[in-house]
Amino acid sequence: MLRLKLKFNESHVDETAKNKDVALKGCIFWNITNKCNNRCFYCFSSSGNMKNKELSTKEALNFIKEAADYGVPRFVISGGEPFIRKDIWTLLKEMRNYNLQIKIASNCTLLNKEKINKLDKMGVMSIQTPLDTLDRNLYAKIKNTNPKQFDKVIKNINLINQTNIHNIVSCVLTKVNADGPSQLMKFCHDKNIDTLSIFQPIPTGCCSLEKLFSIPEYLVKMKEIIDEFISYDKKWLIDIEGPTFESYDWLKRYSKYIRVNFAGCKAGRRICAISADGNLIPCPCMDLPVFYEGNIRERSLKDIWENGFKLFREPPRGCEQCKKYNSCMGGCRILAYGYTHKTNGMDPTCFKLNQDTSKKLEKINV
Ligand SMILES: C[S@@+](CC[C@H](N)C(=O)[O-])C[C@H]1O[C@@H](n2cnc3c(N)ncnc32)[C@H](O)[C@@H]1O
Ligand code: SF4
Ligand code: SF4
Repeated sequence: MLRLKLKFNESHVDETAKNKDVALKGCIFWNITNKCNNRCFYCFSSSGNMKNKELSTKEALNFIKEAADYGVPRFVISGGEPFIRKDIWTLLKEMRNYNLQIKIASNCTLLNKEKINKLDKMGVMSIQTPLDTLDRNLYAKIKNTNPKQFDKVIKNINLINQTNIHNIVSCVLTKVNADGPSQLMKFCHDKNIDTLSIFQPIPTGCCSLEKLFSIPEYLVKMKEIIDEFISYDKKWLIDIEGPTFESYDWLKRYSKYIRVNFAGCKAGRRICAISADGNLIPCPCMDLPVFYEGNIRERSLKDIWENGFKLFREPPRGCEQCKKYNSCMGGCRILAYGYTHKTNGMDPTCFKLNQDTSKKLEKINV
């Protein structure tokens, strides 16, 4: 996963991010259902319909206990659309009963004031809402929905802002919403929203390459976004989550503003995810049979975690001899798969593959 987190306010820093041990001390992402009321053209999980055998309430409650007993500190609840699940409140409550921290990714279409206040009271740490653009017709086109949904989502983002929940607006940057980051930066700044997360699209599921910027184009866009963000106020910070970015010399010139709080790809080493039908996968974007490590209906979390994920705990092809391996850990494995269709392919953002673009970016003044 590659993203720029533009922080308008200070927030929780994942202290486990720099630790390179193999231990499930980060979090478990939970694609809690595959059902969704939207059909975003870029959705890596191709969400829409429920999967055949999604975990029942009883199975989900058992898994929460199992994860808590194993020492997992946090769940990141995602999907599909989490709030479409009728038992979502029972599951969230159980997580809090076990003192598990909760972060949520939701399209925020099914929330309202009462539900947002309930999430706040439960101590939910953050809610991430994908807006992608401020153009309500384009929003509707991207998500295959009615423009009226945009108004409701904006209302809910404003309501989240009145709570203690860390408010994250997100944007998957594609050619379709090239102005999105700039529009949302102003929006977040004016509304004092905590964080704007810009995702590099992962070309799996529904997300096809033709609507995406090429990697060199994306790197140029990334630099433009950083420049625009620091022109607002130089005291704000940018967290970069992108395993290969530590090796870009042109980024080092921004070190005053940038906190690379991500040491290599954590998938299958510090974090993992679970699909709606109980398969353990290295990260939430890898809900593909080729990445299924085992199903929690058949094996314990401990067994799958401790004996699986072998591919993610050794260097992929092309990285074996690389001096940067210790900081990059072979790059983003799902981005590599999306571009190469190989589970041990090379991350296309590796600095070695992008030296021409990097040289060009180095020549542009900060
Ligand atoms: C898969 S959605 C599930 C939760 C919820 N339905 C939502 O939209 O936030 C979780 C996050 O993944 C992002 N996302 C979806 N497809 C993506 C892709 N191909 N590349 C990068 N991020 C993507 C969405 O924008 C959203 O912020
Ligand atoms: S990105 Fe979220 S809202 Fe959009 S289709 Fe996928 S799961 Fe649904
Ligand atoms: S070759 Fe592999 S380990 Fe080295 S920088 Fe590139 S992706 Fe990272």
